[in-house]
Amino acid sequence: MKSLYSAVIATVALLAASPSPADEAAARGETVVDQWCRLCHLRATDPPNPDMAPPYEEIVKRPGRDEAYFVEFLQEDHFPMTIYRLFDDEKRDVVAYLLSLKRN
Ligand code: HEC
Repeated sequence: MKSLYSAVIATVALLAASPSPADEAAARGETVVDQWCRLCHLRATDPPNPDMAPPYEEIVKRPGRDEAYFVEFLQEDHFPMTIYRLFDDEKRDVVAYLLSLKRN
């Protein structure tokens, strides 16, 4: 009986610890952002710098920045962000990352 209990507890702990698909997408999106977007976009922990694009933590607080907005935004080229091309799955992951910042 005791070993059954510990097996159940271990399973529950494992389930609680394993990230949801949304978390995994957000983590992948963060990797994409770190690779391609940090050239211009500040991190939330960086000192303010008017020559740099704002941190995503600020962008997500702007009115109307929801999932539909970011999906649309990433479909198009935006000056000065014309030099990058993301794959569709990367775009989805970046949107998941941005939405995860909104929940924080
Ligand atoms: C060459 C510099 C540069 C790069 C690289 C860059 N950005 Fe930007 N980004 C900007 C600037 C400048 C703005 C406009 C600043 C503002 O909206 O205040 C901006 C704005 C944004 C916004 C806000 C749009 C809005 O309307 O609120 C998002 C979202 C964004 N960028 C996402 C990305 C992502 C994702 C990447 C990487 C794939 C990226 N950017 C790479 C410079 C860049």
